[in-house]
Amino acid sequence: MRLTRYFLPTLKETPAEAQIVSHRLMLRAGMVRLEAAGIYSWLPLGLRVLRRIEQIVREEQDAAGALELLMPTIQPAELWRESGRYDDYGKEMLRIKDRHERDMLYGPTNEEMVSAIFRNFAKSYRDLPKLLYHIQWKFRDEVRPRFGVMRGREFLMKDSYSFDLDYAGARASYNRMFIAYLRTFARMGLKAIPMVADTGPIGGDLSHEFIILAETGESAVYCDRGLTDFDILGESVDYEANLQPLVDKWTSLYAATDEKHDAAAFAALPAERRMEARGIEVGHVFYFGTKYSGPEAMNVTVTGHDGKLVHPEMGSYGIGVSRLVGAIIEAHHDQAGIRWPAAVAPFQVGLVNLKVGDAACDALAGDLYAKLAAAGCDTLYDDRDERAGVKFADMDLIGLPWQLVVGPRGAKTGMVELKNRASGAREELTAEAALNKLVDPTSQLGGLLQELGKGLSPG
Ligand SMILES: Nc1ncnc2c1ncn2[C@@H]1O[C@H](COP(=O)(O)OP(=O)(O)O)[C@@H](O)[C@H]1O
Ligand SMILES: [Mg+2]
Repeated sequence: MRLTRYFLPTLKETPAEAQIVSHRLMLRAGMVRLEAAGIYSWLPLGLRVLRRIEQIVREEQDAAGALELLMPTIQPAELWRESGRYDDYGKEMLRIKDRHERDMLYGPTNEEMVSAIFRNFAKSYRDLPKLLYHIQWKFRDEVRPRFGVMRGREFLMKDSYSFDLDYAGARASYNRMFIAYLRTFARMGLKAIPMVADTGPIGGDLSHEFIILAETGESAVYCDRGLTDFDILGESVDYEANLQPLVDKWTSLYAATDEKHDAAAFAALPAERRMEARGIEVGHVFYFGTKYSGPEAMNVTVTGHDGKLVHPEMGSYGIGVSRLVGAIIEAHHDQAGIRWPAAVAPFQVGLVNLKVGDAACDALAGDLYAKLAAAGCDTLYDDRDERAGVKFADMDLIGLPWQLVVGPRGAKTGMVELKNRASGAREELTAEAALNKLVDPTSQLGGLLQELGKGLSPG
């Protein structure tokens, strides 16, 4: 993408309304625009990040055996009257009347609707187990929307729902989601710690919140430092196998949110392992049995092995997709701006032409841009006629993993500078060598360049 054709309204000054760093940086980097309290437009750069996060969430849900569907944002009130939550939900629910004076609402969550869908189609134990999910906008009329997309009123959530024949099955579904969540957050460059959590108004008796540690977090959390050394991506996960041992490993060390904190158990830990911190909740898993499928609520039934009707055991599992954009920035930034982990970066490379109009610079930068594009490497090409200082500041602000800089002196001899945004390390190298570093060796061009490299190396 050429920056001259892109829509990247960056701000030099810090917006006064933003209290935390991720919110400031998202506004300054031109990722979002506030439309009303807690309601944002996602501008092109922000949307790219949101989509990448969404895709990682989707891949890990699919890998864990969950099936994607899409339920609407607007729901009829009747469903919520069936479960008894229409009145209970209170002012956080945005209630709407259609032209026929029918009560509708903008969905804050989907237990009722997914139960109605399942009830409609599932007949017997053969239709179980099922894990269904969607990635959809939610609306909750929060009393205090704040911190930008972290606590919005309209926000994007991935919510999954499990249906099982019995507790053992429900526990297995819970474990699948538990492990999928660990993998999802790790792939985004986050250390998310599962913590015993309060089940709140949704009910149920088995629940974990996935929390990333950050000073600006809204929850006070307590955990064993040992948890920060666990690495899920180093484990081989087989979703068809029994996941309980792996889940047990992750729940073996102390970790709890404020509401579930056991001061005595925490105090029993050696002092150097006690971590008292603040955290951001990025995901939440609940088991709630037959709370929604039961006769008092949605009355979902299937025939069991013995021919008798049973109410499936359920769980629900949420991930704050739009919140994650802010949470990742909280975890990955410095004085100059964002430092995106490659997996969620809006572009992989920022190609900077320091002297637009200079024949050598234009030719070399243009050539690099074409080759990166051919290799499928997402590149933002700063081809603006701007001062070098402005270009560097904008690149640091938007935080692409790599900056490839073409200047008038180096361009004459085919030399460029490659900077790693996260480490700050810079090196001067030939354009060819820079491409070799940036392009995935398994891609077509990557292979070509590697062949070339082999031919050139002595011996
Ligand atoms: N107002 C919000 N703005 C952005 N993300 C939210 C908001 N409320 C919840 N989320 C995200 O959705 C996930 C699932 O929501 P849930 O646990 O039902 O919400 P809550 O903990 O607020 O009751 C949370 O873990 C969080 O990441
Ligand atoms: Mg929650």
